Amino acid sequence: MRVLVTGGAGFIGSNFVHQTVRERPEVQVTVLDALTYAGDRESLAPVADKITLVEGSITDAALVDELVADSDLVVHFAAESHNDNSLNDPTPFVETNLIGTFTLLEAVRKHGVRFHHISTDEVYGDLELDDPAKFTPTTPYNPSSPYSSTKAGSDLLVRAWVRSFGVQATISNCSNNYGPYQHIEKFIPRQITNLIDGVRPKLYGAGQNVRDWIHVEDHNSAVWAIIEKGRIGETYLIGADGEKNNLEVVETLLEIFGLEKTDFEHVNDRPGHDLRYAIDASKLRDELGWTPRYTDFRSGLEATVDWYKANEAWWRPAKQATEAKYAAQGQ
Ligand code: NAD
Ligand code: DAU
Repeated sequence: MRVLVTGGAGFIGSNFVHQTVRERPEVQVTVLDALTYAGDRESLAPVADKITLVEGSITDAALVDELVADSDLVVHFAAESHNDNSLNDPTPFVETNLIGTFTLLEAVRKHGVRFHHISTDEVYGDLELDDPAKFTPTTPYNPSSPYSSTKAGSDLLVRAWVRSFGVQATISNCSNNYGPYQHIEKFIPRQITNLIDGVRPKLYGAGQNVRDWIHVEDHNSAVWAIIEKGRIGETYLIGADGEKNNLEVVETLLEIFGLEKTDFEHVNDRPGHDLRYAIDASKLRDELGWTPRYTDFRSGLEATVDWYKANEAWWRPAKQATEAKYAAQGQ
């Protein structure tokens, strides 16, 4: 099988490529990635001789057409993915997340190629902190940020291309991922690399916001389950019952580094900051028999800390500029 992985040099995409090469040697992987600030050739270095990496944009219709024509399956991870960046400049979010997804859909429609669209739980907006409810595949779309609204728009494009043109597509909406190769602008790797540098972790607001953490390996095993067993046109929510508030996450990291639970600082909150995300993954579990492997958050976090300690050369070049951007916003 020939698989085209868009965004395969980013966090989740590169982990997907590693897992695929390791567990499915019969699959031929081609990565299409624009190598933006969030994409890194080095993230694919361990598998470089087993895959093809094409540097280019998913908005380039001619390139996309040529690559899709040579594929049996497209797994679409490429996106502008960071909420804080989308508040500073939404432009690349509209271009990549909306126009890029549209460009891919037109190509898979023309060539009759199976498509899996990677999306986020943020399309559903947020839940109250004291609400026992979780997101389900029928929760109404209600995105808050330029990032999540462009992801919501991309999901709707996929649904329309399935219904109107018979495109063979599935969609997955996953909660917050953690693990190796995550850009240090994101919450967990930002705090890990701060702690390695002897800098106190930075908590937005009071730290009460809840995220539903899942290890990236579990996200990607669910994606393969959907590709292999999912029903065309269906949406599957991916989550591993990992709800934690941000304060708890920072406290756990401080403990892992042998520091006091209070050794962090509060910084400016994110405008429009979503309160809580929580996934009901029963459709994925019951229909496709998927289960997560990383059920102990603390040990998953310890392994992630070890990875950042052992791979300083991978993240160090981006650290200063990333922190300067946050400092300019009082974060
Ligand atoms: P990331 O920012 O780490 O990686 C994105 C990748 O896409 C980068 O390699 C980047 O170079 C590439 N890219 C950006 N614009 C492109 C373009 N125009 N053409 C080709 N490549 C382009 O993102 P991530 O965290 O790995 O997220 C991957 C996908 O998973 C996204 O669709 C995101 O919405 C979704 N998602 C992420 C999470 C999470 O917790 N990180 C959770 C649920 C869903
Ligand atoms: O829910 C899935 C989404 O998770 C994905 O769609 C996004 O691509 C991904 O970036 C992530 O979005 P969040 O906005 O939840 O992730 P982020 O890592 O930016 O922040 C996680 C939480 O931590 C959030 O409540 C904001 C908070 N935070 C973040 C940073 C960077 C802090 O308290 N301090 C920080 O320094």
